[in-house]
Amino acid sequence: MNRIINQAERKSKLALAATKYRSRRLQHHISHLSTHTGTMAATSSIPPAPWRSLFLEHISKLDDPYMSVSTVAFDPKTGIPLPRVRTCGFRGFFGELKLHHSAEKQLKDEGGLNPSIYESDMIAFTTDVRMEKVEQIKETGGAIEVLFWVKEVMGQWRLRGQAFVIGDSESEASEKAARSEVEKGLRKKSDNTGGSGEWSWEKEVTAYFANHSPLMRGSFKGPHPGTPHSQKPDDPNLSLGQKVKDLHDPVARRHFRVVVIRVEEVDRLDLNDPEKALRWKTTLDHTGHQRWEELELWP
Ligand SMILES: Cc1cc2nc3c(=O)[nH]c(=O)nc-3n(C[C@H](O)[C@H](O)[C@H](O)COP(=O)(O)O)c2cc1C
Repeated sequence: MNRIINQAERKSKLALAATKYRSRRLQHHISHLSTHTGTMAATSSIPPAPWRSLFLEHISKLDDPYMSVSTVAFDPKTGIPLPRVRTCGFRGFFGELKLHHSAEKQLKDEGGLNPSIYESDMIAFTTDVRMEKVEQIKETGGAIEVLFWVKEVMGQWRLRGQAFVIGDSESEASEKAARSEVEKGLRKKSDNTGGSGEWSWEKEVTAYFANHSPLMRGSFKGPHPGTPHSQKPDDPNLSLGQKVKDLHDPVARRHFRVVVIRVEEVDRLDLNDPEKALRWKTTLDHTGHQRWEELELWP
């Protein structure tokens, strides 16, 4: 009997903690709301993160870089936090998208190529807004961790921070808020070789969409992910295996999103020497000075 009561108490305490946590993160998120338009205004003077170049060097060893993306869900009945993890394609640092030849050609032909003038230390991946991770990101104020295991260098990278989801209509308040947060992490490149023309959010999201093959673009017109197979979509536009050439296909673009992660903590493990594993935690301080502090940890 006592055990059952203790379990119930534990559940309700966890649910309360989760609710408080969510509301704190949401407050934080809402406090950063600002009006925002399609083109870019100011950019940050953040220096490159100290872990950036080694991270890129390690990731470059992977032919086709994928990462495990972890978020937090909540049990609908008890409110208890539940871990969730899935594989996603790593799409580089936001603002620095390396376009495939065919995507670049299509964007150029259609006059939709952004000048390459920004860089950042924010990790990007693409997703479908109907997937559960998007709701989980919203519910937790963006709580996220991504993980890479790079066997070639015997290194594990865990990057934690806050995720922002962009790709909705620019008139949506949540889209404006997300863009304005992402903008804070963008730096103007020091060389001026990025080309001409005006940079816009719309062009940037479209470039991520263009970098998918027609079949992958078509996946954003699939039946609602995660719903029972027996449940046929009401909308005749939604089916598997479609190939989409149009970069502005209204159905696919309604569902397509770019998730941008502002990294706040990096936990790196180096297993090169089996007798002496090494581990570091590099954390962004919260004084507003964008200073990173590195601490060596016992592995
Ligand atoms: C190799 C591989 C790459 C994947 N890349 C992505 C990706 O970039 N974005 C994405 O949303 N899902 C990707 N997926 C599918 C996810 O792992 C997951 O099944 C899907 O996103 C639904 O997850 P959710 O319901 O937890 O949001 C990939 C799966 C595999 C196996």
